[in-house]
Amino acid sequence: MGTKFHWHNTISVIGSGYVGVTTAAIAANTGYKVYLIDINQERIDVLKTGKSFFYEEGIDALIKNALDSKQLIPTTSYDGITKSSIVFSCVGTPDNSDGSPNLDYVFSAAKAASNKMKKDAVYVQKSTVPVGTGKIVASMLPGQVAYISNPEFLREGTAVFDTLNSDRIVIGGADKEAQNKVKSLYETIEHGSANITKLTGITAQPHANGSYFLTNLESAELIKVTANAFLALKISFANSIAKLADKTGADITEVMDAVGADARINRSFLNAGRGYGGGCFPKDVSGLISSAAEHGVDLSIMTAANEVNESMPGYIVHKAKRSLTSFEKKKIAVLGLAFKAGTSDTRRSPGIKIANLLANAGAYVVAYDPHANKEAVHELKTTISIVETIVDATKNVDAVFIATEWPEFKQQDFHELSRIMKGNLVVDAVNILNPSDILKAGLQYIGIGRG
Ligand code: UDX
Repeated sequence: MGTKFHWHNTISVIGSGYVGVTTAAIAANTGYKVYLIDINQERIDVLKTGKSFFYEEGIDALIKNALDSKQLIPTTSYDGITKSSIVFSCVGTPDNSDGSPNLDYVFSAAKAASNKMKKDAVYVQKSTVPVGTGKIVASMLPGQVAYISNPEFLREGTAVFDTLNSDRIVIGGADKEAQNKVKSLYETIEHGSANITKLTGITAQPHANGSYFLTNLESAELIKVTANAFLALKISFANSIAKLADKTGADITEVMDAVGADARINRSFLNAGRGYGGGCFPKDVSGLISSAAEHGVDLSIMTAANEVNESMPGYIVHKAKRSLTSFEKKKIAVLGLAFKAGTSDTRRSPGIKIANLLANAGAYVVAYDPHANKEAVHELKTTISIVETIVDATKNVDAVFIATEWPEFKQQDFHELSRIMKGNLVVDAVNILNPSDILKAGLQYIGIGRG
């Protein structure tokens, strides 16, 4: 593209995680010159070769194109900030042992940026932080720099699509001019989305980013964690009802299809299964609990959601045990190690928990994921074998657990599976299979909340 240098279309993004890379790659292909800054040299080196360290549809094509056109500059130096009109903070907030988020990177990024920021530049927080953090970070920045909270709602696996088709864009802060500056960046991205589509095939709906919420700082911070906590609540609610369905003969899928048809409730995030994982929900739920506790507010509703979630991997393993009598010396395949389909991310992955629970119970576990084998290695017990195909995983096994909803697990030939397995148990920990297909293939089916 070769856009001419001008500080209004030069930005910096600090942190090359899922959010930072997606933000930088999209902005760099819609007219911005982007310094993508990370202290991790290894990540920057990988980015310089035209790819990301994680699997995400469309992202590598965007990185490569932006590098070729010199619009994206991955670097460990903070110097690009001196030329930037907007600086995005997208650093990680790992959790402390008490469940509160560790904000060290949030503060160190702000400190590093504060020495370099241009007068009238805007500092935009995309990292998920507890409500009240922005005020502290803002006080670390020079007086003329405005502070904005612009929480990110993208889902891993559909990060590019979500960025082009946001349900809403929240821009919180006290400075109207700064809020409008950030808004106009999103409008520019929206206008430039045809280029993203050309490179990735991922399309944007017209006026997809139509709804902007310009709020105060604290509201913006609270919107993000509230949205994630509510979605987590929906999942744990569905899982609690699924346990009741298991006891009574109701089918949770039928129940939620009808319940979710009520527009006030909505069907999404009511899929029962082995519970939620990933880098956001577990952390945001515990972060909200600790933030409420700090302010003396009772959020036991979220403590309960968390407990239900923690119980789910053990619940499905226990259900399977009743069929197999014991796991001792049984050979079991676990399909799906990413925390969900479409990503290589294994953080807090329920599939990994299930594999480790089975191994602890004496089973010989063979695990497979189409994109997350490498990431899973260090989290799986050393006795677990990792293989490269579904067939290698399922050959001669007594049972198969499906722990992530990758399409290839749903689309496999179940007659063939039945032929190569030693036993006949299929445990659908994500409720993606049609039980009658499994039964027709001569296999036994166990789901969650499906009788
Ligand atoms: C989530 C939010 O959706 C996103 O808006 C925010 O920016 C980051 O956190 P993400 O963690 O990428 O995104 O994944 P998401 O698709 O929301 O799924 C989270 C977990 O919930 C996964 O483990 C998924 O398998 C599980 N899930 C989801 C269910 O168990 N049931 C459901 O009905 C939906």
